[in-house]
Amino acid sequence: MLLVTGGAGFIGSNFVLTTLAATGEPIVNLDKLTYAGNERNLASIRGDARHTFVRGDICDRSLVAELLRRHQPRAIVHFAAESHVDRSISGPAEFVQTNVTGTFSLLEEFRGYWESQGKSGKLRFLHVSTDEVYGTLGPDDPAFTEETPYAPNSPYAASKAASDHIVRAYHHTYGLPTLTTNCSNNYGPHQFPEKLIPLMIHQALAGKPLPVYGDGKNVRDWLYVGDHCDAIRLVLEKGRLGETYNIGGESEQKNIDLVRTLCALLDKARPRGKGAYADLISFVKDRPGHDRRYAMNITKIRRELGWAPRESFESGLEKTVRWYLANIETHFARSEAA
Ligand SMILES: NC(=O)c1ccc[n+]([C@@H]2O[C@H](COP(=O)([O-])OP(=O)(O)OC[C@H]3O[C@@H](n4cnc5c(N)ncnc54)[C@H](O)[C@@H]3O)[C@@H](O)[C@H]2O)c1
Repeated sequence: MLLVTGGAGFIGSNFVLTTLAATGEPIVNLDKLTYAGNERNLASIRGDARHTFVRGDICDRSLVAELLRRHQPRAIVHFAAESHVDRSISGPAEFVQTNVTGTFSLLEEFRGYWESQGKSGKLRFLHVSTDEVYGTLGPDDPAFTEETPYAPNSPYAASKAASDHIVRAYHHTYGLPTLTTNCSNNYGPHQFPEKLIPLMIHQALAGKPLPVYGDGKNVRDWLYVGDHCDAIRLVLEKGRLGETYNIGGESEQKNIDLVRTLCALLDKARPRGKGAYADLISFVKDRPGHDRRYAMNITKIRRELGWAPRESFESGLEKTVRWYLANIETHFARSEAA
């Protein structure tokens, strides 16, 4: 039994679905259903007795304690977070509350549970974090390794960095059996359309401008969400306790190139009729403090656990576009209501 937090969001729902399919292990899914979470992401497992959905807040310690006591999971896999950098700039309080206090609350309750189980060496707390904790790279800098010093630049990145540090301290101080993963930008089905790829698809299909920040030359390292979920399962089973593992797609792309590729895929799959989708591209004022480049060195997880991304950027993006086109009404309709 796994206790997954944030399992109605983008990566969490992909993790719940792929884990049930891959291993069949039962899952308790604790999610607050903020604007970013939606039970429709889990529609395909409605009625599946292996999945128990609980609407609630990770900051609610008595609820977390009760779930641990009742379900006796072997691990917490912690995705729940406020995750959008732009929102962290306009309203950082929620980010500190969920990402820092929420992670602290989970760790405290997990510590009590672990102690009540005789500090069992079989239990795990897996904390899902981001490459953004490392700050930003210049064009020729080497990719981030697990040894890169933390230098978070946005309130979002700072809240995730703080939570990573608390996880680290709980391992160092109490011996809590923790694992941390830091991943690059994910893409794939179920992503809320405030994030770059679904936002562009949404705007393009509506015939609206495609807003690209600044000069469009910010670089991200794109990771297909299914590959990320495989990596998390592997770290959970085989990762060394107290360690962190970088997970990336080895697929650096400038934002503007990515948007142009998306437009070309849409031109083929659903032609506009009046010009190309790329005609809708519009450069807008840059995000304050916008990190220029992220890139992940994944040597450690490759060498220790034998993981590497299976999806190429081209195949992953094609799959993703196909998914959004097939699910356009339901996915985008609920997002507009948020
Ligand atoms: N999406 C990415 O590209 C990316 C990259 C690196 C790291 N991450 C990390 O991966 C994790 C998942 O990201 P995502 O993109 O799926 O996020 P998301 O915003 O799509 O989903 C977050 C989920 O957490 C839930 N949630 C939020 N606050 C909660 C609370 N207080 N209690 C319980 N549930 C709560 C939401 O309802 C939602 O279902 C996050 O920790 C994020 O920092 C994401």
